[in-house]
Amino acid sequence: MATGTAGVLRELRMPPGRPLRAVGVDSSPQMLAAARDLPPEWELVRADARELPFDDDSFDVATVAYLLHLLDRRDRDLVLEEVARVLRPGGRLATVTPALPRARLGRLLVKPVVAVAEASSGVAAGLRPLDPRSELGERFTVRRARWVNRGYPSLCVLASLDPGPAPDRSHAAPQAPSA
Ligand SMILES: C[S@@+](CC[C@H](N)C(=O)[O-])C[C@H]1O[C@@H](n2cnc3c(N)ncnc32)[C@H](O)[C@@H]1O
Repeated sequence: MATGTAGVLRELRMPPGRPLRAVGVDSSPQMLAAARDLPPEWELVRADARELPFDDDSFDVATVAYLLHLLDRRDRDLVLEEVARVLRPGGRLATVTPALPRARLGRLLVKPVVAVAEASSGVAAGLRPLDPRSELGERFTVRRARWVNRGYPSLCVLASLDPGPAPDRSHAAPQAPSA
């Protein structure tokens, strides 16, 4: 999701574990047009991550890098709902979001920047930190979280899709008692 110029997809080209099929989704045709050096069989699709043009249960893995912090809570929910819908049971989701530094001094130093970012709906909103773990927890089990302090302080979270609700069997015909 929000593949942009396909930086994450380019990382995924590297062996081992290169996927046979990968699809980069972004709502901006300009960003997609700038995506380069991808295997010819991989696709780029212009679409809104809140309404994905894919079947249920059709992907093993989804990544959402540097999108969730740009959205309000309702839109984040819609994106996560769509990701949960298109992932196969047990599928994995990796998110990357800007993060607050973990050290107290670092947090103090970035406080003014964060205040501007929180109040902004423009470019500065790109610096808004977001820890998505509690929101992921509604549909996913968080497996790992890793803070990266090189460059842009970021939080990488790996989660797996929880099994869906048990099928409603209340209308099923009662079973004959076994002998
Ligand atoms: C900050 S860029 C991140 C790009 C890329 N993931 C990366 O890490 O380099 C955010 C991207 O999200 C895309 N985007 C914003 N809202 C979107 C939406 N609702 N559906 C799909 N893509 C969206 C933008 O077009 C942009 O390419």
